[in-house]
Amino acid sequence: MNCRVCKTPIESFMSFGKMPIANGFLSREHFAREYFFEMKVASCTKCGMFQLIEQPDREKMFNENYAFFSGTSKGMAVHFGEFAEHVKKDFLVSADPFVVEIGSNDGIMMKHFANAKIRHLGIEPSANVAQKAKENGVNTVSRFFDAQCASDIIKEYGQADAFLGANVMCHIPYMHSIVEGIKILLKPNGVAIFEDPYLGDVIEQITYDQIYDEHVFLFSVSSIKYLFEQYGMEVVDVEPQETHGGSMRYVIAPKGAQKISAKVHQQLEKEKMLGLHKPETYEQFRKNCERSRDELLGLMNKIRKQGNRIVGYAATSKSTTIINYCGITPEHIEFICDTTPIKQGKFSPGAHIPVKAYEEFVKDYPEYALLFAYNHSKEIMAKEQKFMQSGGKWIVYVPKVQVLEYDFVQ
Ligand code: SAH
Ligand code: TYD
Ligand code: ZN
Repeated sequence: MNCRVCKTPIESFMSFGKMPIANGFLSREHFAREYFFEMKVASCTKCGMFQLIEQPDREKMFNENYAFFSGTSKGMAVHFGEFAEHVKKDFLVSADPFVVEIGSNDGIMMKHFANAKIRHLGIEPSANVAQKAKENGVNTVSRFFDAQCASDIIKEYGQADAFLGANVMCHIPYMHSIVEGIKILLKPNGVAIFEDPYLGDVIEQITYDQIYDEHVFLFSVSSIKYLFEQYGMEVVDVEPQETHGGSMRYVIAPKGAQKISAKVHQQLEKEKMLGLHKPETYEQFRKNCERSRDELLGLMNKIRKQGNRIVGYAATSKSTTIINYCGITPEHIEFICDTTPIKQGKFSPGAHIPVKAYEEFVKDYPEYALLFAYNHSKEIMAKEQKFMQSGGKWIVYVPKVQVLEYDFVQ
C-alpha cells in the first residue's frame, strides 16, 4: 500500500479488526449480507498523512439511504451559522460573490447563504440529505465533487470566491483530484476553508472512535500543508474548533497571495512537540486504544453483573468503532436511543444492537447511559437533568473510561 498523498509505501501500525459501514444501520433481513472490511491504519513517514489502509467504495457509504443528517444537533446548527457569518464577513469581498460547499448535507450551512440571497451551490452525493437541502431552499447538486465536477461547475456558474467543506475533505480518498478541482473552481484570489476532526486531538484524547470507514484521513496542519504545497497553494490560517471532540479549520490560498498567520507556525510547532511525525507516537496510541477498550468492556461487564441496565445514548458513526472494537453486544446494551428517524427501528452496524426513538429512553430510564455523543455533551447534559436527578449515571470513555454521577456534571 502506498500513501494516497505522496505515494511512499506505508505500513499499518494497528488493526481495529473487521468493521461494518459506520452509518449502515440495517434491518434484520439484511444481517446475512452485511459488508465488512478490515480497519487498519497507518501514518505516512514522509508526508505525515494518517490514513486507513482500506476504505469501502464510496457508493457503499454515501447513497440515498445516508443516515447522517447534520441538523440533528442544535449546537452544530449554531456552529454552522457562525461559520457562514465568518465567511460572509471576511471572505466574500467581490460584488456578486459565489460560494461552493462540498458535503453540504441537509443544507445546515448553505441555508445561511441562500437566505442572504448569495449565489451558492451545495455539492452533496447522498441523495436523501441533498433532497432535504433542496427543500430548505438551498441550490444543491447531488454528485461527488472532484476535478471533473469543478470543470462542470465553472461552465455553468463561473469561478467561486470561496470553497467550503466541513467534515467531508477527510472522507475523500482521491485527494489529488479534489485539490485540482479546488484550483479549477477558485478565482485567483479565492480561498478554500474547511474543517475536519484533528489528528492531534485524536492522539492526545485517545478518541480513536474518529477512525471509521468514512474517515479515510485524519488531517494535521503539517499533512495538509504538504498536500496543498504540491499544487502551489499554502495554509494561511488555522483555527482549532471544539466540534466533533476537537477539529481544525484550515484556510488555504494560492502561494504568496496572503500573509501566513503566526497561528500556522505555532500549530506546526505543537505538532512536532506532540510527536505526530514519530512512529513511537502511534505505537503508544495503539497501546492507549487497547487499554481504553479493555477498561470500557470491563466496566460494562461489571455493571451488567450487578444487574443494572445500560442504554446507549446516540447512534453516532463513532459508536460503530467503539462497539465493534470493544466487543460490546446486545447483552451489554439493551438499545441505543437516537433522535434520527432513519436510524430508529433499525439495528446498529456489526453488533446489531436495536436503535430506538429517544422517547424510549425517557419512558423507562436505565441505571446507566453510555454516552456515544460526547462531542454534544453540553447540549445533552442540559437536556438530561431529569435522568440524572432520578439517579441515572453516565458511562463515558473520553478523556478516560469512567462513570459520571450527578454531582460531577452539575
Ligand atoms: N458538512 C456536514 C456533513 C458532513 S457528513 C456536516 O459537517 O455536518 C459528510 C458528507 O459529505 C456526507 O453528506 C456525504 O454524502 C458527503 N460527501 C462524501 N463524499 C463527497 C464528495 N466527494 N463530494 C461531496 N460530498 C461528499
Ligand atoms: P454526531 O456526533 O454528530 O455523529 P457522528 O459520530 O455520526 O458524526 O452525533 C449525531 C447523532 O447523535 C445523530 O444520530 C443524532 C444523535 N443525537 C441524539 O440522539 N440526541 C442528541 O441530543 C444529540 C445532540 C444527538
Ligand atoms: Zn505520504
